[in-house]
Amino acid sequence: MTESQKLPPRLTTLSFHSPLSEPRAASLIERAAAEAPSTVLDIGCGWGELMLRVLEAVPGARGTGVDLNGEDLARGRTNAAARGLADRVEFLEKSATDAALDPADLVFCLSASHALSGAEPPRLTTEALRALRGLVTPGGRVVFADGYWQRPPTPQELGAMWPDARADEYDGLAGLVDRAVAAGFRPVWIETANRDEWETFESGYQSDQEVWLAGHPDHPLAEETREKLDRHRSSWLRGYRDVLGIAYLTLVPVD
Ligand SMILES: C[S@@+](CC[C@H](N)C(=O)[O-])C[C@H]1O[C@@H](n2cnc3c(N)ncnc32)[C@H](O)[C@@H]1O
Repeated sequence: MTESQKLPPRLTTLSFHSPLSEPRAASLIERAAAEAPSTVLDIGCGWGELMLRVLEAVPGARGTGVDLNGEDLARGRTNAAARGLADRVEFLEKSATDAALDPADLVFCLSASHALSGAEPPRLTTEALRALRGLVTPGGRVVFADGYWQRPPTPQELGAMWPDARADEYDGLAGLVDRAVAAGFRPVWIETANRDEWETFESGYQSDQEVWLAGHPDHPLAEETREKLDRHRSSWLRGYRDVLGIAYLTLVPVD
């Protein structure tokens, strides 16, 4: 492949494809591993880092990750092999809505509700939670990460976020947890990403490509990459920064 055919790198500095710090990940894993799950399912897994860390913490547990992104799945397989987990995990390249998935003792759905339903938000959240209720074994756990408004967005912020952003796309945190309860769960743990986690995530989301762009100003993809980076940065800094939150809900299913 020639230099001009190579795509810019992406997400190499991020451990997780979400605003999630190492300390929060460690406590999530510790709580999940304490339940000794035999099976772990990761919906919209990306490279499935949290799932792999749970498999390391629970000898004998088996994992399945499902995602559409072949590049991220390949990163997951490589990481699994490097940690001696290749025979306990499979990464499936398919849509979670099409995959015939068995219920698991621990189910992750981290910033990936759209992998479970094509509904518009906020109904998307409800439908994803209902699907997750059917994918967890009795007494198991679901770790669900989804968006909520930290405060109501102003019209100017909405206009800067993403095309057709609406104030009713998300609930506040209480409304998000109410949706989980209505879908047949009780909340075991409720936590939210803080500003440091967001800044680490948003910076890491762009940094590979910013560095690449600085070194490849005449590359055929330079203009397209610059526009994409500028658009995303503006959407964050003028739109959803300190307005959109991400909640990590650890949920137990109830009848
Ligand atoms: C924001 S990323 C989160 C990745 C991962 N859960 C994490 O937290 O690191 C959302 C993921 O959902 C995946 N996705 C989108 N639609 C999907 C579908 N229908 N089936 C499976 N995965 C899907 C994307 O490819 C992407 O990897």
